[in-house]
Amino acid sequence: MDYAAFHRRSLDERDAFWAEQARLIDWHVAPKRTLDYARPPFARWFVDGRTNLCHNAVDRWLNRDWGAHADRPALIYISTETGEERTYSFRALHAEVNRCAAMLLELGVGRGDRVLIYMPMIAEAAFAMLACARIGAIHSVVFGGFASHSLANRIEDAAPKVIVSADAGSRVGKVVPYKGLLDEAIRLSAHKPAKVLLVDRKLAAMPMTAGRDVRWDALAVRHEGAQVPCAWLESSEPSYILYTSGTTGRPKGVQRDTGGYAVALAASMKHIYCGNAGETYFSTSDIGWVVGHSYIIYGPLLAGMATIMYEGTPVRPDAGILWQIVEKHRVSVMFSAPTAIRVLKKQDPGYLTKYDLSSLKALWLAGEPLDEPTARWIADSLKRPIIDNYWQTETGWPILTYPMGIEDKPRKFGSPGHPMYGYDVRLLHEATGEEVAVGEKGVVAIVPPLPPGCMSTVWGDDRRFVETYFRSVPGREVYSTFDWGIRDADGCHFILGRTDDVINVAGHRLGTREIEESISSHPAIAEVAVVGVADQLKGQVPVGFAVVKDAAAVATLDGRMKLEGEVMKTVDGQLGAIARPHRVHFVSALPKTRSGKVLRRSIQAICEGRDPGDLTTIEDPAALTQLREAMAPA
Ligand code: PRX
Repeated sequence: MDYAAFHRRSLDERDAFWAEQARLIDWHVAPKRTLDYARPPFARWFVDGRTNLCHNAVDRWLNRDWGAHADRPALIYISTETGEERTYSFRALHAEVNRCAAMLLELGVGRGDRVLIYMPMIAEAAFAMLACARIGAIHSVVFGGFASHSLANRIEDAAPKVIVSADAGSRVGKVVPYKGLLDEAIRLSAHKPAKVLLVDRKLAAMPMTAGRDVRWDALAVRHEGAQVPCAWLESSEPSYILYTSGTTGRPKGVQRDTGGYAVALAASMKHIYCGNAGETYFSTSDIGWVVGHSYIIYGPLLAGMATIMYEGTPVRPDAGILWQIVEKHRVSVMFSAPTAIRVLKKQDPGYLTKYDLSSLKALWLAGEPLDEPTARWIADSLKRPIIDNYWQTETGWPILTYPMGIEDKPRKFGSPGHPMYGYDVRLLHEATGEEVAVGEKGVVAIVPPLPPGCMSTVWGDDRRFVETYFRSVPGREVYSTFDWGIRDADGCHFILGRTDDVINVAGHRLGTREIEESISSHPAIAEVAVVGVADQLKGQVPVGFAVVKDAAAVATLDGRMKLEGEVMKTVDGQLGAIARPHRVHFVSALPKTRSGKVLRRSIQAICEGRDPGDLTTIEDPAALTQLREAMAPA
């Protein structure tokens, strides 16, 4: 089919288009209206329709093929960390999710209550997410790599009735304890959960707080065989909150609806990822990120596919592990991040031809820019289509990509392709708000209403939703992605990095302000600026420039090294090792404008050896000289 016509129709005949897509899911009560846009920019999709994500992901598949689908795999759990591998059929997954739903009900969770999930990549995490969806509770999954301070912020904002967690995770063979960090986070948070449900993997100590902490295994035996009916939610009722970083130090709770999300994901499985019931989907992401929500848990299951939940890295026990999994489970759709591919590029290329990858339709990559050499290398090695897709936590599914299920359009390395159906994408001049010409750089913006599946608001803060996303391009009420982009004469887009202070470390989205706040909490630090600096492997790494309160502390190399180590430990303890700065340099002043604004862009340019731009407004030019010296090799 002609994709351009498909895309045009999605905008020109929006309601008819999405009403058709809505037939991809089961509705308990069909929607009365496709879109309510009476209060822009808030969009309510599939008004008065009643449905349930868990029903569509699990129950719906039990009767398919006269019941034969019930015994096909739904969740394949593989851990190269602990050596476990378990497959749950749709029937088994249904039983586990029902049991977990009964457990949550016993702990007092009701419709609309929040359940915070802070878990490693284990099957129970999937059961908990789906169980929340079943009873209409709102889950808020927090990435296991985040530490106490980050977790405490999220507990306070989401105010969960129950937290589900575990004793520990495991990374590269090393135990990563969760329970201690969780206890500390609860101590720091003004909001306290009523109950904490804990999976004991027997990897680490799990001290229990009487009256609050409950063991998963002990509660599970009491609910063996439980049947919990699905709560039929109105389409706009929230399904989940997922926190993401922006310009401020306070992460935003991206709130997602139920019906719009289910339809958007089901449509994307058909038109973008080409996944069919009975096939296997393998995403190497983590449930703590949006890719994990959309394309480990909900998307594949909504399509009746088996989904692989993988706890491990791409290089252990060897660099063939991902392809070994593809061969063994006949994976048809695979999703990963460019960093994983850059990691593999450094390994023996023999692993790429060792396994039978004939089941694989394509490899989709997202989360950070896919550089041309990496794309070319993996395409040549795998001999499979490599498909870049660009989107955000806020949108939940691709904004730009090549929609293989509609038309196999020619792909360009380095470009995530074309605007997806439902997205009216424009590139706008940052100062005038005018559309830029072909080949000119502009802010990637979306003319509202945002299509189904995108965030409905910021949790508990409608104003912040409007102010943050719809007021940043002068004179235009459009959604800003906060990414720079450019379009060529063929309509292919290229993403050129963020317009704000968000950085992307190995595909992980981090806010430099959060890292700055953490570093500033060290008693020796007076002031700090953190910038993202280009890195061959990880895309970007955070680098800090700090001014100390007492210059004597960093007068010697020993003093500098000691303080740098302490600062890194502070970040590890508060935010998690993923946010740890690659380096912290000590300087006596930060480059600022005369009005006191830190020139982060200039700092970043100097770090990357680029021209720092117009510096006529700088207050103290010596600060720049110092910065250059700090960056010079010792
Ligand atoms: O800057 C863009 C970058 O990652 C940001 C969104 O990150 P997150 O909210 O974690 O969602 C990831 C969903 C895949 C974007 O604003 N980004 C994401 N995908 C790409 C990308 N940059 C370039 N190319 C991509 N394919």
